[in-house]
Amino acid sequence: MKKVRTAIIPVAGRGTRLMPLTKTTPKELLPVYDRPVIELIVQEAFDAGIEKIILVISTEKESIRTHFSDNPHISFVYQNEPLGDGHAIAQAIPELETDEPVLILFGDELIDNEGGENAAAQLLKTFEKTNLSVIGLQSVPRAQVSRYGIVKLGTQEEVEIIQEKPSLEAAFSTLAIVGKYILTPDVLALLHETEAHADGEIRLSGTFQKMLQEDRPISACVIDGERFDTGSFDGLLAAGNHFAR
Ligand code: UTP
Repeated sequence: MKKVRTAIIPVAGRGTRLMPLTKTTPKELLPVYDRPVIELIVQEAFDAGIEKIILVISTEKESIRTHFSDNPHISFVYQNEPLGDGHAIAQAIPELETDEPVLILFGDELIDNEGGENAAAQLLKTFEKTNLSVIGLQSVPRAQVSRYGIVKLGTQEEVEIIQEKPSLEAAFSTLAIVGKYILTPDVLALLHETEAHADGEIRLSGTFQKMLQEDRPISACVIDGERFDTGSFDGLLAAGNHFAR
């Protein structure tokens, strides 16, 4: 398998949870104390050794392109309609080399592993060991499992089952999917075959369910560090306070 050299960061979502802040400002440009969220995520990728970043934007989010216009290692593709994270990632596939595995970082998930390897580097380490697609996980409080995709690990630390937003009683674990992945070319190919959810969105979680149905292995990486969902008001505030310290 080739080395992971490219990261795709989908940032074309609507950001409805942060309305009205996101009416004219993309959530990825909102401040985490003294820097926009997206700068911290871009830095995470480059610090982990990524050479090229593809940002998936929309015409309403041209300001993200302007923000990075002086960086020759960042390119842009468009998602014309916010039809889901999987659909956004698929827009960047034509920009990849054949058989190239990629790092995926969602534009609103920050993890600070102070003094240790950053989240992207932890995923890359798992990929180097397994040569399989990797799903990044973190344990969440039991009361919050119904907000996340929840993973049950198998005996070899691989992904055995993914539950979509399970009830507290039904959840097999508290290990939540946190928007950081490595996708191998076979998973990227499956994105095009992934059916839309009931709400019309094509999600990466659906692609992984397809992988599991076909008995294709996926590895898991339980990420060390403190996580902030900057797509929510509480997460954005907590991240700002954390990085100000
Ligand atoms: P989220 O679900 O966190 O983003 O998607 P959202 O849709 O903007 O959020 P809300 O629920 O409306 O507040 C995870 C990542 O995928 C991107 C988002 O920009 C975010 O970085 N995304 C999501 C896309 O690029 N396109 C989409 O159609 C959906």
